[in-house]
Amino acid sequence: MSTQPAAHYDRVHEAWRLIMGEEFHYGFFASADTPLEVATAALTAEMLTRAGIGPGDRVLDIGCGTGRQSCDLAADSGASVLGITTSASGVAAASELARTRGVDARFEQRDGTSNGLPDASYDVVWALESSHLMRDRGGLLSESVRVLAPGGRFVLCDIVRKREIPFLEVRSRRHDFAVLRSAFGDAHMEPLASYASTLEELGMTVLDATDISEETLGTFAAWRANVARHETTLLELLDAESVADFVRATEVLEAFWNDGTLGYGILAAVKP
Ligand SMILES: C[S@@+](CC[C@H](N)C(=O)[O-])C[C@H]1O[C@@H](n2cnc3c(N)ncnc32)[C@H](O)[C@@H]1O
Repeated sequence: MSTQPAAHYDRVHEAWRLIMGEEFHYGFFASADTPLEVATAALTAEMLTRAGIGPGDRVLDIGCGTGRQSCDLAADSGASVLGITTSASGVAAASELARTRGVDARFEQRDGTSNGLPDASYDVVWALESSHLMRDRGGLLSESVRVLAPGGRFVLCDIVRKREIPFLEVRSRRHDFAVLRSAFGDAHMEPLASYASTLEELGMTVLDATDISEETLGTFAAWRANVARHETTLLELLDAESVADFVRATEVLEAFWNDGTLGYGILAAVKP
């Protein structure tokens, strides 16, 4: 979802929708047989509980993807939402979605690591699975804190790194890392504790930083089941190599989750 032309974006979007469901992110599985749609909604609910968004709140959604979530936040909580992404086609699609749904959500092409928005202008900053795509993590966090009004909340969930990966191991697993890059782009995972400590250094009070690797593990099997279910259609939307790469990437991630290399974290902080 970066800067592809609109037709490619639409095809890829449709393929991801078949694999990941209507909400394009990991699921929070209460049990092994939780359906993916229930699990993705549950992850959003985990974020919502921490964000405490109310009517009239000004919400900044950093890395807003298709805009679906910004629109839901505006519709469900009466907030006024600005969704930002570096993807021009993402902004166009999200703006169209907000217009169709008639909700108070706007979309702009901005970089979360240097957003150019006024100081203290948001009540909630929301970053759902976008931070791993921003190499300048310090920039993302300091900019988020800067635009929050006093009392404002920062909520984030994302893939996290759970241990140091020694150079020799990176080298020996380079094929695994290449598979991940090809399926998900250039991602950089940081430990959950480093998000928390950077936020504390920026003057925030961290309310909660929880490892939810176990609860998100079921996501990979659910995505693979959808690939198998929609294989014929997926092969019309994507080339066979991309589909195979995606399946392989879910296996690599699942192995990383199981051996404690990568996992998933959720965090909430408040600006005093
Ligand atoms: C995996 S999607 C997450 C989408 C959305 N939060 C959701 O859950 O549906 C990541 C999003 O982050 C955006 N993104 C990547 N780098 C960014 C940056 N530096 N600033 C703002 N958005 C960025 C991508 O364009 C994409 O929209």
